[in-house]
Amino acid sequence: MAHQALWSGRFKEPLSKIALAFSTSIDLDKQLYQEDIAGSIAHVEMLAASRILTAAEARKIRAGLKQIQKEIETGRFHLTGDFEDIHLAIEQRLMQKAGALGGKLHTGRSRNDQVAVDERLYLRGAIREISRLIVQLQRVLLYKAEKYFGVLMPGYTHLQRAQPVMLSHHLLAYIWMLERDHDRLRDCLKRLNKSPLGAAALAGTSFPIDRLKVAKKLHFDGIVENSIDAVSDRDYLIELITTCSLIMMHLSRFAEELVLWSSTEFGFAHISDAYTTGSSIMPQKKNPDMVELIRGKTGRVYGALMNLLTVMKALPLAYNRDMQEDKLPMFEAISTTRQCLFIFSHVLVHTTFDRRRMEDELRNDFLTATDIADYLVRKGLPFREAHAITGKIVTYCIEHRMFLGNLDLDILHTFSKAFGPDIFDYIIPHKSVEQKKSAGSTSPHEVKRQIVHWTRALKGRRA
Ligand code: ARG
Repeated sequence: MAHQALWSGRFKEPLSKIALAFSTSIDLDKQLYQEDIAGSIAHVEMLAASRILTAAEARKIRAGLKQIQKEIETGRFHLTGDFEDIHLAIEQRLMQKAGALGGKLHTGRSRNDQVAVDERLYLRGAIREISRLIVQLQRVLLYKAEKYFGVLMPGYTHLQRAQPVMLSHHLLAYIWMLERDHDRLRDCLKRLNKSPLGAAALAGTSFPIDRLKVAKKLHFDGIVENSIDAVSDRDYLIELITTCSLIMMHLSRFAEELVLWSSTEFGFAHISDAYTTGSSIMPQKKNPDMVELIRGKTGRVYGALMNLLTVMKALPLAYNRDMQEDKLPMFEAISTTRQCLFIFSHVLVHTTFDRRRMEDELRNDFLTATDIADYLVRKGLPFREAHAITGKIVTYCIEHRMFLGNLDLDILHTFSKAFGPDIFDYIIPHKSVEQKKSAGSTSPHEVKRQIVHWTRALKGRRA
């Protein structure tokens, strides 16, 4: 049965059932019950400390709120669509339990700052969790980079074979990308971790509340200074979902590579049976569904970002009910990002890489053509000329159904007299990789340096 709304004083008629059904947000915001109760307790304790309520009143309200939390957790208090939202549901229940005293909880605050504080508390936890999951994935990547140290694979540009690289180097690239996501999360937290409580509806309150005290109780780093700003903006959420979108973009690229690499055409990776599925019609199939789903779920997070940006665009200050529509994209983006990071770590643990396949592919191709050009440059030719000569060698090989590894010195001399027997040190993929000198390159020395860096960096990190 619909409850009498706490705001019903000036209304002659109750909210129609269909209007309530349309406007209730409880199905989603009931997930914020812990944050809402924590915010209310901090608020009521501050009211007592500021002598707006007596200590005894605050104690009773606090006890009531704690009981309500238990009732929710044990399923004795049903958060149904009869309530407009989680904030009113809890307050209404408190009034049932504590009578008129329960009505004092809302002194000097508004639902608008409750929504903002609940979200900030929830997102603070989400940032912690997502950061932890990133570190977990980075550790799996590092483990694989160490395990496969020395294995070479074709590096690609335009998905065309480009140059030999170390598999570890490729895996380490993702650790760096995820590290920037980790940094971005920390940066979001700096701006998000401010308390909006005490903004009241929008203009502040005539009660002598202590906003800083509430902020401290809730472990915020300070308050949102401007009361209109405090209840109006959702930039903290948009910023975080932007970061989630980048995380998903990174996961999705890696997912795409695992899809490709586990195909017969590539054959570079084998995802274990426990993380793949079969076909209901084709008995031979083994499909990489988990990584495909990660790639697919990226759309949900991008969608959430667009959704929020669109909801917020052109809203006049301060609060508007449109802003209630932030809950769906918020929960969707956070839970999808969490899930995908979690699953990705598991899939990767259960993925092996096929050294033989990767290195066979290197031999049967032209991946060290750049090394031949660089060799000629070292013999005194201008790079453009060296590039042209090497291009002709490649064409020759294609026409004669050969690869670079099949060339001998006689053939090479027909293209340039600059070639000496040491050229073969440059044509072999392993040598090519070892010849790299620049910082951050795919040389074993540089890749090892990165592995050492990440072993240290991830060791002390909380995950
Ligand atoms: N359920 C609403 C939301 O999430 C609560 C705020 C309602 N405030 C108001 N003034 N109607 O946005």
